[in-house]
Amino acid sequence: MTSVLFVCLGNICRSPLAEGALRAAAERAGLDIVVDSAGTGDWHVGAPPDRRAQAAARRHGVDISGLRARQVRPEDFRRFDHVLALDDQNLRDLMAIAPADGTAEVRLLMDYVPGREGSSVADPYFGTDRDFDTTWAEVRAAADALVGRLGRRFPKSAGTM
Ligand code: 4NP
Repeated sequence: MTSVLFVCLGNICRSPLAEGALRAAAERAGLDIVVDSAGTGDWHVGAPPDRRAQAAARRHGVDISGLRARQVRPEDFRRFDHVLALDDQNLRDLMAIAPADGTAEVRLLMDYVPGREGSSVADPYFGTDRDFDTTWAEVRAAADALVGRLGRRFPKSAGTM
């Protein structure tokens, strides 16, 4: 089964939103995939998503309240097929800790969105509710694009369900 790990800095704003968006998009598409998220930093380990991130997801019909933050670890690069960074600093940090025997494809999440390749999802932590809605729109677009890609490579008829 295809597996995707989203990585941001704190694992309480952007990557939990990406996780929620991809879970919802995969469910809509009938695609069975493993989805998780983590942070490069350890400040929020064990904490639920930021209240504003939870609220933004809820406004779009997705419940992320049960997620808990964790820090990315070396085995993630072996366990997941795709390790997707929310911004370019996260990507550099991931490259710096990726073990030599890592097998995951490590890249920017927005590389999956036509026209947005190479761009970062801005950190909404010091922003407003409106910034969290912008984050949601970005990760939702990426989630839909990901489901399109993964769905084509692993069509339901191939027996992944
Ligand atoms: P995230 O946002 O990386 O999208 O989860 C942040 C959350 C917390 C902090 C920075 C970014 N922080 O510095 O505590």
